[in-house]
Amino acid sequence: MAGVSPCWPTAPRTIGRMISNADRRASEARRAASRAPRAAAAACKVTVCRGCCCGDARKVPGVDHAGQIARLREAVGTSAAVRASDCLDVCDQANVMVVQPSPQGRAAGGRPVWLGLVNDDDALADIASWLRAGGPGIAEPPGVLDLYAFTVSRRVREALED
Ligand code: FES
Repeated sequence: MAGVSPCWPTAPRTIGRMISNADRRASEARRAASRAPRAAAAACKVTVCRGCCCGDARKVPGVDHAGQIARLREAVGTSAAVRASDCLDVCDQANVMVVQPSPQGRAAGGRPVWLGLVNDDDALADIASWLRAGGPGIAEPPGVLDLYAFTVSRRVREALED
């Protein structure tokens, strides 16, 4: 559930080391990404749900659903591949998008980020700017995207990875 933090039965000193190691890996990945050719940064992916509710004007009125994927593709350029998917099983969050890290971002600790209620172009612009900066694990997302982020069950998460 969003906003619920796990409780870690780990000593504060150990947590500090874990954070330090994560920071070091993220820093190394950012340096590697800055040296890598542009094509390497193109490995982020965005999955845009276009199932029974996402992309349907009867379920989410007042949104130019038909043009949303094209506008996102144009905004991200070569920084990410954008694909449509069938229902991701979290319809109450329509329109749903999942931002998946590049291999470099994943190596730096980046994980897929689920975004819901992505029904305005400002959100698309923020997603695109994050991807152009490197995406999960490489760049911090614009703070406003916290308003769209949500967590999903393992079952839902793993279904996307299949
Ligand atoms: S249609 Fe998008 S989550 Fe179901």
